[in-house]
Amino acid sequence: MPNKISIIGAGNVGATAAQCCLFKNLGSVVLLDAVENVARGKALDLAQAAALHKHRFPVKGTADYADTAGSNVVIITAGRARRPGMTRSDLLNSNASIVKDVTSAVVEHSPDATLIIVTNPLDVMCYVAWKASGLPHHRVVGMSGLLDSSRLRYYIAEATGTAPHTVEGLVLGEHGDSMAVLTRLATVGGVPVTKLLNPEKLAEIRYRTAHGGGEVVDLLGYSAYYAPGIAIAKMTEAILDGSHATYPCSVYLTGQYGVNGIYMCVPARLGAEGAESVIELELTDNEKNQVATTARNIRELLALLPEGNSPA
Ligand code: NAI
Ligand code: 2OP
Repeated sequence: MPNKISIIGAGNVGATAAQCCLFKNLGSVVLLDAVENVARGKALDLAQAAALHKHRFPVKGTADYADTAGSNVVIITAGRARRPGMTRSDLLNSNASIVKDVTSAVVEHSPDATLIIVTNPLDVMCYVAWKASGLPHHRVVGMSGLLDSSRLRYYIAEATGTAPHTVEGLVLGEHGDSMAVLTRLATVGGVPVTKLLNPEKLAEIRYRTAHGGGEVVDLLGYSAYYAPGIAIAKMTEAILDGSHATYPCSVYLTGQYGVNGIYMCVPARLGAEGAESVIELELTDNEKNQVATTARNIRELLALLPEGNSPA
C-alpha cells in the first residue's frame, strides 16, 4: 500500500502542498475542501500533469472525510488566510473553530495518522488540534520554522552571494513577529555568517525573516504558498521516509528551552511517530530572553481561546 496523505483545505497552501507531495512521489493524495468543486478541480488539474511530470500516485478531490480514511499523514490548512493589515491573531477565533472541527473529523477516519498543522495562528492552532485529536502530543506537529528558516537562509544567501541550500540557519519560537532568529548560529558553507556580514546587515536579515510572511502579504494581498507548500512536503517526507530529518517545527514542549505546556518552534527530529525528540541548544542570555518573550506571546494568544481550549 502506498503512503496516503490527506490535505484539508484546498486553497493556495493546501493545493501547493499537494503538488509538492505528488511531484516528490510521497504517496497518494486526497485534497479535501468544504467547497467540493475547488478540491475536485485542483485534484483534476494535478492529475492532468502526471503524464508530463511523471508523478505516479493518484490524487482525489473531495468534501467527504470518508475519502481520507487510513491516511498516514494529514495536513491541515483549512481556515482563513491573512489579509493586508490583519495580524495572525485576528484569525484566532474563526480558525480555532475550523481546526477543531476538521481535526475531529480527520482523526475519526485516520486514528493512526500524524498531523501537520499549518493554519494560523500556527502555534495556537497546533494546541487546538492536539486537544481536539486526543492523540499523543508528538503526533501533532506544526509547520513553521522550516518556512521561517528557509526565509532566513534565502536572505543570508542573497546578502553573501551564495546558494541558499549552502546556508544553514535556525529560528525558535512563535510563527509570528516575535520569533527568535538565531543569526549567531547561521553558517554559509560551514563558515559562521557573523564572519561574513556586519551586525547591521544581520539585524536587517533578522527583521526581514521575522516579517517574511507579512512582506509577501503586503505585495500579494494574500499570503505565501510556494515556500509553505514545499516546507509542508519536506516535513511529510521526513515523517514517511524514516530518515529522521531534524527540522525546526512547532512541537509541544515539556520543559525544553524553559517552556512547558505549549506548542512552539524548536529543532525536532521527525519520524513515523511525529516529533520523536527535541534538540536543545545552549543559548546566550539575550536569546533566552527572546525565547521567553516569544513563549509569552503564544501563551497570551492561547488565553484568548474560548473556554475549554486554553491550557490549564
Ligand atoms: P486559502 O483561503 O487559499 O485556503 C483555505 C481553504 O480552506 C479554502 O479553500 C477554504 O474553502 C478551506 N476551508 C475553510 N474552512 C474549511 C472547513 N471547515 N473544512 C474544509 N475546508 C475549509 O488560504 P491559504 O493561503 O491556503 O492559507 C491557509 C491557512 O494557512 C491560513 O490560516 C494561513 O494563514 C495559513 N498559513 C500558514 C503558514 C505557516 O507557515 N504555518 C504559511 C502560509 C499560510
Ligand atoms: C507566512 O508566514 C502567513 O504564516 C504565513 O507566510
